Amino acid sequence: MPNKNFYITTPIYYPSGKPHMGHAYSSIVADIFARFKRLDDFNVFFLTGTDEHGLKMQREAEKNSKEVKIFCDELSSKFKDLTKILNLTNDDFIRTTEKRHFKSVLDIWNRLEKSKDIYLSKYKGWYSVSDEAYYDEDEIEIKNNNKISKVSGSKVEWVEEESYFFKLSSWEDKLLKFYNDNPSFILPSSRRNEVIEFVKKGLKDLSVSRTSFSWGIPVPSNSKHLIYVWLDALTNYLSALNFPNTSDQKYKKFWPASIHIIGKDILRFHAIYWPAFLMAAKIPLPKRVYGHGWILSDDKKMSKSLGNILDPIEIINNFGVDQLRYYLSKEVSLGNDGNISLKNLTNCINNDLANNYGNLCQRVFAYINKNCNSKIPSCNKLEEDDKKLNNQIIESLSELRSLMDNQELNQYLKKVINFSFNANKYFNDQKPWSLKEKNPERMSTILYVILNQIRSISVLLNPIIPKATEKVLSILSVGKTDMTIDSLKDTKILKVGTILKKSDILFKKIENDN
Ligand code: MSP
Repeated sequence: MPNKNFYITTPIYYPSGKPHMGHAYSSIVADIFARFKRLDDFNVFFLTGTDEHGLKMQREAEKNSKEVKIFCDELSSKFKDLTKILNLTNDDFIRTTEKRHFKSVLDIWNRLEKSKDIYLSKYKGWYSVSDEAYYDEDEIEIKNNNKISKVSGSKVEWVEEESYFFKLSSWEDKLLKFYNDNPSFILPSSRRNEVIEFVKKGLKDLSVSRTSFSWGIPVPSNSKHLIYVWLDALTNYLSALNFPNTSDQKYKKFWPASIHIIGKDILRFHAIYWPAFLMAAKIPLPKRVYGHGWILSDDKKMSKSLGNILDPIEIINNFGVDQLRYYLSKEVSLGNDGNISLKNLTNCINNDLANNYGNLCQRVFAYINKNCNSKIPSCNKLEEDDKKLNNQIIESLSELRSLMDNQELNQYLKKVINFSFNANKYFNDQKPWSLKEKNPERMSTILYVILNQIRSISVLLNPIIPKATEKVLSILSVGKTDMTIDSLKDTKILKVGTILKKSDILFKKIENDN
């Protein structure tokens, strides 16, 4: 019996400002995989949340003259609101300021102390508050009189303080062996190579506590120290499963995680530190870490100073949530950086959603409403062209599953939208309107076959554009139990004689004034 449990996570976001497109992107992508797995009959647990400790959050609160917990509460709730706005199906929303999380971080810390992977010494080196990361001398450069990290471009400051260290150096060989034994632990493979090269160059022990500020989880045996925010944050993936209670049902069912979806900028933490912490704490490792690329605007990383930020909420208000979800999945190849613009968004909505899928549904429904008393017509003898159309999806199911299992989202999408293109072509070529008088039986069959295509395409698109596809499936009276990937093998699910429900327009065409 294959393991039908699937645990997927997004990064937990710093609620240091309002959510932006990068946050929306990680979340939408994770939601799409979660939804697909549910349609494929998996028990899914999908987690997102906010990362609230550390100097970055403390300083941000001070800048806003707010007490830090109040500041976190306010901004974290904006991220929680975003889950609704993006139509995410997360099963939980974790905050690192919650009690359940403290418990699990303290347990991890105690395990690391017990295994003698932690020792007290002094840290002397560079730190980026914006990344909450330590950098080596050779990772620093000077730009406009500022010392910045070559890796992220963010400012670094000099830190000299007593600190606990995690013996990362002693995990080097075990990490390399792990990457070797588990070739799909880090995806895409270009990222895997980067990580392996980095580890091969040699790992230094990692400072895992700070003493110069107050906002975080204190080290249990020495409250002068706060646990390093990344050790704190990464543990969220366990906290949500009620760790340290390892006999808890949730933990037993869902750990190790199937996949952590993250941006490439936080790969080091997830692909090196996290597995090393877990190995040292004797906890099984997640199965995969997928580092997606950056969303660029006008070929540049979005930033306040460049003024090129595309606000997800504004786009959703103007164009719709399905439209944004579709556009990001289609235009950006998941593993790579991808440029987005309002002009491309408009073209994508018009070409794929309004003219292709939307038009397919609308014209077929309109035809049936007008010519068949709004009833699903009967399916009579199938001809070669009908079988060919039916088979285009049935024969692709295993490929579609494997595309989703390998996170090849935009390949998946291209395939599905091509089915819709073929279905439109079939409708044009078969000309059911020319058969109304001379061969109504054949006309019915054509309409039934095409309705079944609409059903199948809608199920396949459902993880990406849930709102519109749910509307279409409800027009066809397809219930939740028939909304599965497996059901697509059955071409006779639609009930003949069922009245098509009324609905408004699916996708409005957008006037392009560029
Ligand atoms: N708090 C840490 C994550 C801890 S996970 C245990 C963090 N938070 S973040 O808010 O700065 O970023 C969260 C995610 O947003 C990262 O995966 C990051 O890659 C993603 N993005 C931020 N800007 C982005 C783009 N412009 N494009 C795509 N994603 C980017 O890091």
